[in-house]
Amino acid sequence: MSDKTYYITTPIYYPSDNLHIGHAYTTVAADTLARYKRMRGYDVFFLTGSDEHGQKIERKAKSEGMTPIEYVDGIVANFKHLWKKLLITNDDFIRTSEERHIKVVQHIFKKIYDKGDIYKSEYEGWYCTPCETFWTDRQLDEGKCPDCGREVELLKEESYFFRMSKYADQLLQYIEQNPDFIQPQARRNEMINFIKQGLEDLCVSRTTFNWGIPVPIDENHVIYVWFDALTNYISAIGYLDDPEKFNRYWPADLHLVGKDIVRFHTIIWPIILLAAEIPLPKQVFGHGWMLLEGGKMSKSKGNVVDPLVLIDKYGVDAVRYFLLREMPYGNDGSYSEDALIHRINMDLANDLGNLLSRTTAMINKFCDGKIPKPGEPAEEDQELIQLAEKTPGAVEQLLEEMQLANSLARIWDLVNKANKYIEDMAPWNLAKNPETRPRLNTVMYNLVETIRIVTVLCTPYMPTLPKKVFDQLGISDSKELHTWDSAKQWGSMPDGVTINRGEPIFPRIQVDNQQDKENQEQKQVKEVQQQEQNLIDINEFAKVDLRVAEVVAAEKVENADKLLKLTVSLGNEQRTVVAGIAKYYEPDALVGKKVILVANLKSAKLRGITSEGMVLAASKGKKLALLTVDEDIPAGSKVK
Ligand code: MSP
Repeated sequence: MSDKTYYITTPIYYPSDNLHIGHAYTTVAADTLARYKRMRGYDVFFLTGSDEHGQKIERKAKSEGMTPIEYVDGIVANFKHLWKKLLITNDDFIRTSEERHIKVVQHIFKKIYDKGDIYKSEYEGWYCTPCETFWTDRQLDEGKCPDCGREVELLKEESYFFRMSKYADQLLQYIEQNPDFIQPQARRNEMINFIKQGLEDLCVSRTTFNWGIPVPIDENHVIYVWFDALTNYISAIGYLDDPEKFNRYWPADLHLVGKDIVRFHTIIWPIILLAAEIPLPKQVFGHGWMLLEGGKMSKSKGNVVDPLVLIDKYGVDAVRYFLLREMPYGNDGSYSEDALIHRINMDLANDLGNLLSRTTAMINKFCDGKIPKPGEPAEEDQELIQLAEKTPGAVEQLLEEMQLANSLARIWDLVNKANKYIEDMAPWNLAKNPETRPRLNTVMYNLVETIRIVTVLCTPYMPTLPKKVFDQLGISDSKELHTWDSAKQWGSMPDGVTINRGEPIFPRIQVDNQQDKENQEQKQVKEVQQQEQNLIDINEFAKVDLRVAEVVAAEKVENADKLLKLTVSLGNEQRTVVAGIAKYYEPDALVGKKVILVANLKSAKLRGITSEGMVLAASKGKKLALLTVDEDIPAGSKVK
């Protein structure tokens, strides 16, 4: 067993519903890193699981007429099925309902309680009985329950509290001394600010529901779900029962989580560990969210994308490639089926698929189907060879920094360079002349070797790809040519191997009528959603002609104490505008101001005066302020 270990985790998912493409991203990203580290010789432990307790699940089960465990058993089986279809190589799957986990959570709770860092007190808050939920003052929506809008009452509940505040300084110190602990940088800064604002003690027990782990010293309480859930990272690796395993893998190298739960992982979790005197994890990385063309995916919106459907339709490698390629570092990514098809057709079918297909076709045609012996590399081979030699190191560096999308982009630089090399070298011309035969052999060899290297580098991302490519290149049994290290050895590919040109590795997706119809339907759903949310598109906004206008004269309108008559200049024309701003501005003070005019508003008569536009102002309560421009800019300028 290697002495280099790597312990990587995903969040444990709530089995309140089946998982969607966003959840799949986290697990695919973690799997890619786990596979990569294994290729680099690490003894990897890769953990995922399910976070099964809590009121939400208790209620959901009830609504389905099941006990909580019956309900979650079904959903957890679906999780495991999905991970199998996505070729996830987790070493364990922890369920928080398992005895091995419950034991550890109770042990940690008791340990912290015995130290005096968990104490009993009263939790006071606004309680919504139908929702069975406590709210703080700030969470209320105009004094009512923010979920259901009903009346709330001030209630007190006996609870256990965790003295988080006591550990704030120690945590800050850890974060400062370990700059990589929270990544990316922006989230690190956010967390530092959060802690500096002061931490409140955390309520870590509940009495309003039963589906949870009992507080070891008080059967009336169950342990707060996050205290329970976070502990999975140590219960799964034998914190109590298997010290050898625990010491081997802990502290975790990486907790990979979505941006919404960074706070739980970088504040609550480390403080639990500090209080329990267990070392802290080395890194928490918070990735962005996979959004649906800009919006959030949710059951209630009915826009959840089921990864199983996509895998069946497009294949597992394509789905994994898309997810990893489309989530930019530190930001949100965007999913649409069109974008997925585009990636498949461009990157996979055109760029990579065609590279292999053209190369094997030419080897069959010009080289009797055998990989030729290369001659000395010529000047014009250098760029390709140098890029191939540099790419593995660049990919390693990017993967260490969790730059998954960029690491794929790097590999594709090499793919594209190879395609360009074919165009530049024009092997079909070299084949015409016996004198250029040696050059042809070198060019074909270089192409095969580049494809081999690209394939090795793609292995962690797209696990079924290598077999397909290596079969075609005739090197399926030569395991030594599949290793990560071999990708750093240009020239490892032997010559004389007989290739087996086969089917395209990524067939192009025909965007047929059915697809069009589905896309059309999706677009319509989106339009309706946007209308519902009162959204306008850019074309609608562009209909409004906004201009900078200079006030050249202003006077009160007779017998109308709210109105001013303004004369404004648009550079090459003057307009009269009646504005309801007399209570806020003296006419003289307006002359010379540059304001914003809606220039294509239908004219209207006010107190006998024709108003040819409208000036924009912001107002709230009794305040009103005209919109003006920040820099001096000529009257008539367009505002956009
Ligand atoms: N059970 C907690 C985690 C406990 S970990 C000790 C939880 N579960 S969850 O099922 O709601 O979410 C799990 C993960 O999925 C989170 O990291 C969350 O950010 C991620 N995602 C949920 N929707 C997502 C997207 N649309 N895109 C990317 N990730 C998203 O939170």
